[in-house]
Amino acid sequence: MKKVLILYDTVFGNTRRVAMALSRGLEAGNFYVDCSSILSVELGEIVDYDVIGIGGPTHFHGSSKEMKSFLGRLKDLKMENKRGFVFETRGDFRFAGSAANKIMKILRKMRMKIMYPVITGIVLEKEGPLQSKTLERIEQIGLELSDKLNGTAMLTNKNQEGMEIKHRSIKGILNYLKWILIGGGPIFFFSRALNLASTGGGCLGTIIPGFSWFLLVLELTISGLSGVFAILALTLLKLKRDRGVTLGRFNLKRLILFTGVSSYSIHFIRVGIWITLCVL
Ligand SMILES: Cc1cc2nc3c(=O)[nH]c(=O)nc-3n(C[C@H](O)[C@H](O)[C@H](O)COP(=O)(O)O)c2cc1C
Repeated sequence: MKKVLILYDTVFGNTRRVAMALSRGLEAGNFYVDCSSILSVELGEIVDYDVIGIGGPTHFHGSSKEMKSFLGRLKDLKMENKRGFVFETRGDFRFAGSAANKIMKILRKMRMKIMYPVITGIVLEKEGPLQSKTLERIEQIGLELSDKLNGTAMLTNKNQEGMEIKHRSIKGILNYLKWILIGGGPIFFFSRALNLASTGGGCLGTIIPGFSWFLLVLELTISGLSGVFAILALTLLKLKRDRGVTLGRFNLKRLILFTGVSSYSIHFIRVGIWITLCVL
């Protein structure tokens, strides 16, 4: 059975309640869970666990002083490939900051695999209480986490080290391909569109004076915009991965993937036709 350790920091007790709710959810999913304050845990014990959840209150837009010092000591442990999740409590206001984002960054640097977007409990006042129904929602997340773990447990149950590494490297390659497609897709799409426009525009440029200049400005603007578009898309994807933020029904990721795939496909079809004509 996989062992889960949930570590929390707290001043007023709210983050401890969130940690306990996560723990109840995971236990309901048949996991063995230990829950402890970062102030009382023995560092050496942490490596005995398969999954580690770490969370704390948001202080001055980041994690608390105690959490920072704990994470500093954690860096010396070998945590590679351990699974983890992060949680936090914070106020419900603009620019509240996030303790969990800082924790997540450090865990990722330690090459832990973060298996869930940031789990947040909102406090109504500095000392609490938590928003109503928060603990029920978070207990449910604990249950979801156990489902995710059961999925990965099935893979590791086979206990074929080689197979798991292979699985990971294929996933890695696919991931790179996905990023190339997503980042390059819109740029490629616009450059195709420009190519078409400039071919037509070139002819017009000989007839209408100044039209070539107009095309050049247009070309530069669209190239700039496509770069901004790609950066925006990558930022949104990162937000979704780290914070679970989505744009509701408007699925930008799918739209960009579609643009990318269709523009690449059109290009390959064009090249295919061209080669066929040359051969003929
Ligand atoms: C010193 C201090 C700084 C804080 N700074 C922030 C902040 O920057 N953003 C925020 O959303 N909440 C801030 N808070 C509110 C805490 O997030 C809140 O007290 C905490 O979530 C409660 O959790 P706890 O009961 O586990 O301590 C701050 C609280 C304290 C005591």
